[in-house]
Amino acid sequence: MDVRTFWLAGRPATGDAELTVTNPDDGREVGRVSVPTDAQVEEAVAAAKAVAREAAALPIHVRAEALAHVSRRLAERSDEIAHLITAENGKPIFWARGEVSRAVSTFRFAAEETRRWSGEVQRLDTEPAAAGRMAYVSRVPYGPVLAITPFNFPLNLVAHKVAPAIAVGAPVVVKPAPATPLSSLVLGEILAETELPAGMFSVLPVANERASGLVLDPRLPVVSFTGSAPVGYAIADQVPRKHVTLELGGNAAAVVLADADLDWAARRVALFSNYQAGQSCIAVQRVIVERSVYDDFVARLLPAVAGLVVGDPADEKTQVGPLVSEAAAERVEEWVREAVEGGARVLAGGTRVGATFAPTVLADVPADAKVCREEVFGPVMVLQPVDSVDEAFAAVNDSAYGLQAGVFTRSLDTAFRANRELEVGGVIIGDVPSYRADQMPYGGVKDSGVGREGLRAAMEDLTYEKVMVLTGLSL
Ligand code: SIN
Repeated sequence: MDVRTFWLAGRPATGDAELTVTNPDDGREVGRVSVPTDAQVEEAVAAAKAVAREAAALPIHVRAEALAHVSRRLAERSDEIAHLITAENGKPIFWARGEVSRAVSTFRFAAEETRRWSGEVQRLDTEPAAAGRMAYVSRVPYGPVLAITPFNFPLNLVAHKVAPAIAVGAPVVVKPAPATPLSSLVLGEILAETELPAGMFSVLPVANERASGLVLDPRLPVVSFTGSAPVGYAIADQVPRKHVTLELGGNAAAVVLADADLDWAARRVALFSNYQAGQSCIAVQRVIVERSVYDDFVARLLPAVAGLVVGDPADEKTQVGPLVSEAAAERVEEWVREAVEGGARVLAGGTRVGATFAPTVLADVPADAKVCREEVFGPVMVLQPVDSVDEAFAAVNDSAYGLQAGVFTRSLDTAFRANRELEVGGVIIGDVPSYRADQMPYGGVKDSGVGREGLRAAMEDLTYEKVMVLTGLSL
């Protein structure tokens, strides 16, 4: 098998070691990737620093055209890239196609946003002392961005860091997840087709242990990390003076209230607790149901879970595939065992074959079990009956995390109340928490992180406001 090159300051390069990528479903080798040396990592960072001023001054049409080109090429190569995602991640091809199509939009949104990236003027002659004065308020990149990306969306979560960086004129150094570097390397290939200056991007498939040097490097003043809370906060603690954006985990709740469409709620909860084998930060983990409809809801939920197609991720009909590794599935199995030993009942699933864990529904789970308190990142949901809306919302908030929550209700009052009271970055009314439109602000509160993605939000996050005051004007 050919060894894939990585991307060093916009050009392909080969290091002195290799990384083997395997398919989580069958352990088959799906790619080999060349790993950069320390000297090559240094070269990439130096190049990012060297090009930063030129990057910030890049004409908008150059940035927009580069971003639009990436969007078009991802669309043209979507079938190939979707299969690559499935091969390296184990994500069923149906979801992999969805991810590519989202990445197409992510780059297109960035191209559109950069064309609107004009700054503002603010008249200052609101006070006599500032007669004839006006401020031009623009946003300026902090500087080169270190993007540390996870395995669960190996293309679109890279896109969410690379596209806004290019849109604001910031060089970006990507460190992809070691399990799934292939999609980001294809992205590098497409970026290399653009007119962006050398140094504007690098994709460095280095081991996690080598990320620390990049995090500490003062030439990369921004660290944008997506992954687990312990790793994210360790990064923030390492570099308290850097601008650090953390998109971390969650144990997302779906609330099913008595006025909900129970059929719809059951189908959506079943699917989105298990999509990508639960490996999404907003997969449904806690299902909080008003007691008056609990039995009715569970009677609809269990057939919906049983009806999910589990199996070969390359099959177009498969809805639930393997986790990213057998070790990940074993960890989920261990957490379910702990819950059962504490008194939980398994209403569905609970079994593992290799890296695949069956869609699992648990009831009567002790509140301190890991499947309630931590992020499972697996196809497991925990049912919790409650007696009122008050109790439901208190249960959602009884979590260290706060990324998104879904509330199935038909009441507009309850929707606004949820928006006021739930301690999360996003509330989805009438659907699961597992909804993300790539242009909307996305991110958490509490232990789910700081900062926001979503193109406009990320562009603001990567930049600071700068004012230029003009004086002596006739306004
Ligand atoms: C995540 O797992 O945080 C990303 C979810 C998404 O982009 O849909």
